[in-house]
Amino acid sequence: MSAHWMIAPPPPRAGSRIVLVDDVFAVGGPLLSLAAGRDVVIVSDRGIAPHYLPRLEAALRSRRRLSVVLPEGERTKTARTAHAVAGRLLREGFGRDALLIGLGGGMVGDLTGFVASVYLRGVEYALVPTTLLAQVDAALGGKTGVDHPLAKNALGTFCFPTSVVVDVRLLATLSTRDYRAGLAEVLKYALAFDAPFLAWLEDHAADLRTRQTAVVAEAVARSIRHKVEVVTRDPYEEGPRALLNLGHTFAHAIETHDGYVRWRHGEAVAVGLDLAAECSRRFGWLTDADRARVPALLRSLGLPTEPPAADPARIRALMARDKKVRAGKLRMIFLEELGRAVLSADYDERILTEVLTETFGRRRPEGGA
Ligand SMILES: NC(=O)c1ccc[n+]([C@@H]2O[C@H](COP(=O)([O-])OP(=O)(O)OC[C@H]3O[C@@H](n4cnc5c(N)ncnc54)[C@H](O)[C@@H]3O)[C@@H](O)[C@H]2O)c1
Repeated sequence: MSAHWMIAPPPPRAGSRIVLVDDVFAVGGPLLSLAAGRDVVIVSDRGIAPHYLPRLEAALRSRRRLSVVLPEGERTKTARTAHAVAGRLLREGFGRDALLIGLGGGMVGDLTGFVASVYLRGVEYALVPTTLLAQVDAALGGKTGVDHPLAKNALGTFCFPTSVVVDVRLLATLSTRDYRAGLAEVLKYALAFDAPFLAWLEDHAADLRTRQTAVVAEAVARSIRHKVEVVTRDPYEEGPRALLNLGHTFAHAIETHDGYVRWRHGEAVAVGLDLAAECSRRFGWLTDADRARVPALLRSLGLPTEPPAADPARIRALMARDKKVRAGKLRMIFLEELGRAVLSADYDERILTEVLTETFGRRRPEGGA
């Protein structure tokens, strides 16, 4: 299995080569070839390092190598950590010709990209995404960043990795919960852009749940193709890239309300996709039958469809912080039909309020952030 895609944003920034491989540690493969004879810094976290770091270290034929293993979890993705990593690089004398390799999920990828984009005004980096979410989404679009106490991803850059090497076999060690959370992003591509892919997901839901390698590889490849297509057209999120946000305005409100404790991002996206579908049905865009396919598929992929109990007005207020707000109006992504997402500014606000009230307000609010 071998395939690759090219994201080519306009100069002066370079594009990313995205390669789907059978064995990321293979001699002569794209990662080891890129690293051969160079000064290499591997950035990873404690969740992933025991599984794959020794193999990567043993396989590299670099000139000099440093491995930085960070505590796992979103709380590590801060400017303080970026500062500490840069400090290690400076102390060890890594120069502008260094190659950073991010081995891990979206947390490691965002942080590695951020450090690479600012260290000595920018060094090259490559990503080996190890979660499904990172393989189909986080590692692909050149967005780097760290969190600020006041907002997630508040400090960041657009900086494309030279190479993204995707090996779905690395997903074997991922927890069930993290794996399933990634499936929500796969479903997002199908709902937003590709009705035949949606039907394919319905047919292969059982194999996806049980991580059949060939089926997972196909789902990943199809998802990557959609992300590459959109990011190539709109690398710096000035237009159609916003469609990748389907379900995410709801999801971010759920995550913020929760205080980033109980909900995985992908789980919140799953609920967000369902809410976007419900609004689309009430706008008269989706038929009842099409709308019903969304929760059915979410359930068969092992994903939630029920939002947490919360004050609907609080959720609506959190949604208003979305970056798609223009001139005070929250623009949202809905579905004109299955496989066709649309950015809308003139939807019926009363319907949105109705959906929030009926779903979030179903049970008694139980607090939150
Ligand atoms: N840059 C982007 O465009 C973009 C897009 C979406 C999300 N993100 C970011 O991605 C992050 C979330 O990423 P994530 O969901 O990959 O979570 P994560 O990187 O925190 O990884 C989740 C957990 O899985 C462990 N892990 C990773 N791969 C593993 C493997 N193969 N086997 C065993 N354990 C493994 C990690 O150690 C961690 O404990 C967030 O910070 C989010 O902001 C970025």
